[in-house]
Amino acid sequence: MAKKGFIFDLDGVIVDTAKYHFLAWQNLANSLGISFSEEQNEQLKGVSRVRSLEKILEWGNKTISEKDFTSLMTKKNEEYLNYIETMDTSEILPDVPRILEYLLTEEQGVALGSASKNARIILEKVLLKEKFQAIVDGTDVSKAKPDPEVFLIGAQKLGIDPKDCVVFEDSVAGIQAANIANMVSIGIGDPKVLHEADYVFKDFTEIKEEFINQLVTTKRN
Ligand code: BG6
Ligand code: MG
Repeated sequence: MAKKGFIFDLDGVIVDTAKYHFLAWQNLANSLGISFSEEQNEQLKGVSRVRSLEKILEWGNKTISEKDFTSLMTKKNEEYLNYIETMDTSEILPDVPRILEYLLTEEQGVALGSASKNARIILEKVLLKEKFQAIVDGTDVSKAKPDPEVFLIGAQKLGIDPKDCVVFEDSVAGIQAANIANMVSIGIGDPKVLHEADYVFKDFTEIKEEFINQLVTTKRN
């Protein structure tokens, strides 16, 4: 079988941590007197910690000092770390292990492409770290999604051409990044939100082995 690269986002794709990011940002926004809706949260998915805080402040029309900015980022991350402290394998999203095992059995490239600086800790907590041949996270990139940098580094680390890579993403920014990288983009979530993706599935339970085989054998330019 041909070899392709499969690059997974982490938050909201492999584990159910998107809800913890939401809670921590909501608490922070509310503490500043800024309201924060689920629709706004959708725009923060896949977006770096710095850029997320900048957006919240823009929405609330607030300007703060650099020192306060740094301490708010620390505060958000401390709250987030509290949420993930007790995480275990039960927070792996349905059928993620089945797809990972299948790809590894078929000797496909498997990488992580996440904006999170906490990605490695989380993968360790849910005992999935050793499934990834390459890990690219928020500590490895200088440009946030929708910039394709994170996925292009992932492809490079796997030694696979970007056009032979497939990305699984739950965020609009991540789907855009995959498209810009000329990779196949697969949205995990709501098709209305992720309409720019090549394919969208509610979750991995909807993804059959036949579909993966089709991705592996299809040649792209
Ligand atoms: C992304 C999440 O994976 O990582 C965003 O979708 C988050 O919500 C971003 O802000 C950065 O994560 P962290 O863990 O470095 O704050
Ligand atoms: Mg995500």
